[in-house]
Amino acid sequence: MTHVLYALGATTSETTTALSDWTGRITTLAYLVAAVLFILALAGLSRNETAQRGNTLGATGMTVALVATVAKALVQSHENPGEYRSAMTTLLLIAVAMLVGALIGVPMAKKVEMTGMPQLIALLHSFVGLAAVLIGFNSWLHPQDVSAEMESFHLGEVYLGIFIGAVTFTGSIIAYLKLSGKIKGAPLTLPGRNLLNLTVIVVSLVGMGLFIAGDGGSTPAVVSLAVMTVLALLLGLHLVAAIGGGDMPVVVSMLNSYSGWAAAAAGFMLANPLLIITGALVGSSGAYLSYIMCQAMNRSFAAVILGGFGTGSATAAEHDYGTHTETTVAETAQALLGAKKVVITPGYGMAVAQAQYPVAQLTDTLRKAGVDVTFAIHPVAGRLPGHMNVLLAEAKVPYPIVHEMDEVNDDFGDVDVVLVIGANDTVNPVAYEPGSPIEGMPVLKVWDAEKVIVFKRSMGSGYAGVQNPLFFNENTDMLLGDAKASVDAINSELAKLAPAR
Ligand code: TAP
Repeated sequence: MTHVLYALGATTSETTTALSDWTGRITTLAYLVAAVLFILALAGLSRNETAQRGNTLGATGMTVALVATVAKALVQSHENPGEYRSAMTTLLLIAVAMLVGALIGVPMAKKVEMTGMPQLIALLHSFVGLAAVLIGFNSWLHPQDVSAEMESFHLGEVYLGIFIGAVTFTGSIIAYLKLSGKIKGAPLTLPGRNLLNLTVIVVSLVGMGLFIAGDGGSTPAVVSLAVMTVLALLLGLHLVAAIGGGDMPVVVSMLNSYSGWAAAAAGFMLANPLLIITGALVGSSGAYLSYIMCQAMNRSFAAVILGGFGTGSATAAEHDYGTHTETTVAETAQALLGAKKVVITPGYGMAVAQAQYPVAQLTDTLRKAGVDVTFAIHPVAGRLPGHMNVLLAEAKVPYPIVHEMDEVNDDFGDVDVVLVIGANDTVNPVAYEPGSPIEGMPVLKVWDAEKVIVFKRSMGSGYAGVQNPLFFNENTDMLLGDAKASVDAINSELAKLAPAR
């Protein structure tokens, strides 16, 4: 490009300016391409069949963005040796930071079990929040060139960025501790907790006015920033600490949304349009996912955003539901071969046991034997949105026989046998009882089927810590043991029985 401009008769300074302009325009174009790729990636990720393509598009978008950013930094500084050296040093530092991050992150990602993903995601969200706080303070201490008329706006974005980042940071840490079982027990329900949250928000807003009015440098401005940071850190902690076990899935997606807005705020502070777009995409898609999950969990979206939205009593009382009936592998195999219609409802236990492969084999065997086998997936089964769908897709269960809860929940009356494989809260009829900790949460109405066989290791409760009366129903049999071992054993039994059919 430089040579073309010289050939056209441009002077050195004109050439440098033109080159800088061109690089800026090409970078903007590359950012636009990356943003479109990110949107297509999100669209792809919304369906099992297109999820891999979505991932590839997202990774391509990120590569385009990175190459454009690095190229811009190098090209725009290459005429000035001092600036060029400084750009190279910055890039080198970034490369070292990426290498250190990769050395820690890759083994962690390889090691983490699918069931441990929510806590890992929560931890990663906390990094985004912390980054937004640090970028905010950096922007405040070392302001970039901002025109006088944009000064107030810039101070506003610094203040908001730190607020959102701080809430995301501590909220995500608490979510990590809760999801990984490092914090146990009833949710923290302080008296007047909603009023407390509201007070923090109002005080922070007043502080924002003082911060901007004091040009970010007066004593009241500095004090406002410091007070708001502490309050925002406490707010994040309080919002998530108040949420009960069964409602944690919504918190994961809500913090995902908060981390997106924190990244968008960082984008404003760094004047990076791609970071603003990417942050807004994560923020809005996370908010939409939270909204969908709230609907699935029958919770109010507004209550989730304000935190502490668990309903009912925090702890569940133990009930005497009578005695349960146990069954055997041989009886289960017979029941399955005698059935016309079988529905499998998997849950977290299937993921723990890694039983999806024998389950896929069982499905295949039964379908070949003429049994109509389908799956009913609860929206929060497992520990991640779409957790069961991913496991079943991994085991190559055909997509068309995997149904969402809403599609099939009224059809259990026509089902001969339901296999509840490692699910508990998602099939707990206590959700219909007023005052129960999972009151109002929609559940799979498996009890309407002629027979229910539950695969789990004990009579213990599920994630929400609520006893499940389904296990004591007359038409329920318990097949106690590790889900994978049980399904493997049924597959062996069927191998003996099916040919004789
Ligand atoms: P849970 O209620 O968690 O119950 C899983 C059951 O699996 C347990 O009762 C356990 O009983 C059994 N289990 C564990 N290991 C097993 C093994 N190796 N073999 C056989 N069974 C085993 O599961 P769910 O019905 O999927 O409900 C999900 C819960 O997690 C909901 O409360 C949901 O709100 C919450 N949650 C969901 C998410 C998302 S986004 N999906 C995120 C966070 C929390 P035993 O110990 O007796 O075997």
